[in-house]
Amino acid sequence: MKFRREILQALSGGSFRSGKELGDSLGISRSAVWKHVKALRQLGLDVYAVRGKGYRLSLPLELLDHQVIFSAIPVATRSLVSAIEVQLELESTSEYLVRKARGGALSGHICFAERQTAGRGRRGRVWISPLGGNLYFSILWRFPEGPQSLGGLGLAVGVGIARALQKSGLGDVELKWPNDIYWRGMKLGGVLLEMFGESAGPCGVVIGIGVNVRMPGGVGTAIGQPWVDLETAIGRAVSRNKLAAIVTHEVFSAVREFQLGGLGRFLAEWRDLDALAGKQVRLVTPSESLVGTAVGVDANGALLLRKGGQVRRYYSGDVSLRLVS
Ligand code: ATP
Ligand code: BTN
Repeated sequence: MKFRREILQALSGGSFRSGKELGDSLGISRSAVWKHVKALRQLGLDVYAVRGKGYRLSLPLELLDHQVIFSAIPVATRSLVSAIEVQLELESTSEYLVRKARGGALSGHICFAERQTAGRGRRGRVWISPLGGNLYFSILWRFPEGPQSLGGLGLAVGVGIARALQKSGLGDVELKWPNDIYWRGMKLGGVLLEMFGESAGPCGVVIGIGVNVRMPGGVGTAIGQPWVDLETAIGRAVSRNKLAAIVTHEVFSAVREFQLGGLGRFLAEWRDLDALAGKQVRLVTPSESLVGTAVGVDANGALLLRKGGQVRRYYSGDVSLRLVS
């Protein structure tokens, strides 16, 4: 695993590196290098080999780097970051960080992974997380005020991510209740909140964020709904380290703002970004499935659905919400 990351780093510039040169620099044999290259291919990377020249990636790859990310975060936010980890592979950055949180990790701890083997979406769904092209990360935040203060946090985080994408040059960003990031009707990213701690005391939240940046060819066919990546939406290459820094900054700022002033400060902006306002939607809960018109969110972040002249409220828990096409 260790050598795999180093080989990837050596190849990331996109030029040829010979097996001998790679092996010598790592203190391993050429055949060991070859085994690692094979493993990288199995993970979906397009590494090709040319006799006499060595190995090369078909496209350069910007690996995440904790120092580069940290130094690109504005100074005021840096003081809130307690640690930044970058892992090559994890089952899920959120699962990892929840475990670390239980072991005492500090608020402001961030963990990125280049790949997740069991990335999770809401309600046990899978988040497709191939190697090296997208952003998958989780942030630990502790709330001494307790969980009663957290209603609507996911909406505030969504606004933070939308602000970061807008500042990165993306127009037409949309938010789909409760926690999805869309662009022109296609899913670009998602947020998963996992809470732990006392029901009437200090608690913590692991905020899991996935943003598609450059989805490797073929992988997206496993996603069961329209999706997009940022490079396609924006029409140019995107620096993942810079994007990681700006999303981190905006999410930290949003969480601080939420902690100080609650959801009220975000509602107007959320409503402006609402992907479904005024549209016909199908809402599915464990007990019912109905079609109605989405009419925004209330002051607590509950979804408002109009059906037969009545407006009902839904809280995010076990609810699925889809546009009726
Ligand atoms: P809802 O629960 O309201 O129906 P949803 O379908 O977006 O919304 P979520 O649980 O929020 O459900 O997200 C998980 C879903 O996101 C997966 O079932 C899949 O359709 C989609 N998905 C998985 N990986 C990705 C990805 N990398 N990019 C975009 N979409 C993805
Ligand atoms: C959703 O739309 O259902 C939420 C998707 C959240 C995905 C991110 S990727 C980083 C973090 N780790 C996970 O396993 N999930 C979240």
